[in-house]
Amino acid sequence: MRPADRERVVELTADIWEGHDYLPQVFDAWVADPAADFMAAEEDGVLVGLQRVRPIAPRVMFYEGLRVASTHRRQGLARRMVRAAVDSARAAGFQHMRLVTGDNPPSQGLFESEGFRELFQGAPWRARRQEGGDPPRIPGAAEAEALADRLGGLAGFDQYGGLNPDWQSPLDLDSALLARLAGEGRLRLGAGGRALAVVQPETLRDLNVSCAIGSGGVFQDLLMALRFEADSQDLPGVWLLAPDDHPGLDDLRAVGYDFDGDDFHLHVYGLRLDS
Ligand SMILES: CC(C)(COP(=O)(O)OP(=O)(O)OC[C@H]1O[C@@H](n2cnc3c(N)ncnc32)[C@H](O)[C@@H]1OP(=O)(O)O)[C@@H](O)C(=O)NCCC(=O)NCCS
Repeated sequence: MRPADRERVVELTADIWEGHDYLPQVFDAWVADPAADFMAAEEDGVLVGLQRVRPIAPRVMFYEGLRVASTHRRQGLARRMVRAAVDSARAAGFQHMRLVTGDNPPSQGLFESEGFRELFQGAPWRARRQEGGDPPRIPGAAEAEALADRLGGLAGFDQYGGLNPDWQSPLDLDSALLARLAGEGRLRLGAGGRALAVVQPETLRDLNVSCAIGSGGVFQDLLMALRFEADSQDLPGVWLLAPDDHPGLDDLRAVGYDFDGDDFHLHVYGLRLDS
């Protein structure tokens, strides 16, 4: 895609999600990103499909932005585009492809039939900011290594699929990712390292927490501290993504978090490219 394609993208997406497609907003940034490959499908010179791939770790490719013009649907175009993206990522030596979607039966059906597996499914919870307490502790990179060994034993780790469902970059919570997140100041730690949260780099409205692991009193203290952090940053509250079977859901409720799902779920899918 080139900057000059902007109008064609605006046109293609005009009737998607009742005119609320975010692609026109991100178009300039997407076109300008040299690390990503933003691809167009054309038919007789007309733009009929879009997709983008972007490496998010040395061997992990992120897939996003799939769109097919409403005039060209159910002709197998999306399937051909996804296959092309998968084949080229595999040929380039990537081991995994990851993607994130909301509740979207057509695209979920497509990706599942192409072998993608759902790795995580979760819904948003919200709490209002709270005055009068200390924000959580932010561990440094040196602590991240020790954390990696313990994390698998904490309540909720498995329900998160062992990953941080960051909607820009869903990666396994291994020592490499923990070191990276610690370096970016995005980890929040409960007492004794017995609870962990990951905050998103961007703030949409609230303090966005993509993952919160733990249960019991230490977990509750961490969840409260996130509300204090929202207050210290003058944000209205905390928005936290939790799997429906998180063992700490009662802890969330106990410290003022409410289910904010309204039936919305975020899904992370993954495909192994090397098997
Ligand atoms: C989702 C979308 C990309 C599908 O494009 P498409 O070219 O029509 O899809 P294909 O013809 O390649 O269909 C592939 C599979 O997707 C699924 N699918 C596509 N449209 C579907 C629909 N309306 N209902 C149910 N399943 C559907 C089916 O599994 C289909 O396989 P099948 O034809 O063997 O049943 C297109 O509908 C679109 O652009 N929608 C709006 C934007 C969007 O939702 N993007 C995905 C964001 S994650």
